Amino acid sequence: MSAELDWQKDAAEHLWLPYTQMQTAPEALPVVATEGVRIKLGDGRELIDAIASWWTACHGYNHPRINRAIADQARTMPHVMLGGLVHEPAARLAKRLATLLPGDLGHVFFSESGSVAVEIAMKMAVQFWLNQGVEGRHRFLSFRAGYHGDTAAAMSVCDPDDGMHRHFKGYLTPQLVLDFPRDREGLAAFETTLEAHKSELAAVIFEPLVQGAGGMKFHDAAALS
Ligand SMILES: Cc1ncc(COP(=O)(O)O)c(C=O)c1O
Repeated sequence: MSAELDWQKDAAEHLWLPYTQMQTAPEALPVVATEGVRIKLGDGRELIDAIASWWTACHGYNHPRINRAIADQARTMPHVMLGGLVHEPAARLAKRLATLLPGDLGHVFFSESGSVAVEIAMKMAVQFWLNQGVEGRHRFLSFRAGYHGDTAAAMSVCDPDDGMHRHFKGYLTPQLVLDFPRDREGLAAFETTLEAHKSELAAVIFEPLVQGAGGMKFHDAAALS
């Protein structure tokens, strides 16, 4: 074992790690570099990262094309708000994403995480009804075993009993939760619930194709459509 790095004490004293009980967690491993699928530790050991830093490095660490694009962009213009302003990278990416989307989903609203994307989508659904002059449609229907993120509104549409969010039950807005319809009975229950709550429902939220965090449960394509 090599000596402790000079910043490790700062990490132990000042960093609050996600999904971690800091009172009992073992000391976190100090990372000094990455390459491809590998994470290099301060003592020279290497890890193979099989979860791509929670899916954020799905093309591998230090991908030359991505690193070049980041460096080039940082030199030209690291960030500018989209408040009344637009720029070429945002326009090009929005167009590429829009061409992948079905139907008339032709506009892209950028956010910085999946949870915030869900918050934004939920607010858009609520605002849609308000803009139609319809009051009171601000509840959501979601499906058991679903996972939509860690911010408050996103948590409210996750599975209410499973996983880490159940402790926050009293804090979250109660939503409607059903089993994902897998047969005719399930579909009938879904339609009955929609009908019964149509005056208060803003939208239905579900993970397209597969419930990832809920256990890689694939939806039936026919039920989805
Ligand atoms: C379907 C789905 N929605 C939302 C999220 C939340 O994304 P983030 O962790 O970027 O906030 C996740 C994360 O795994 C997800 O799988």
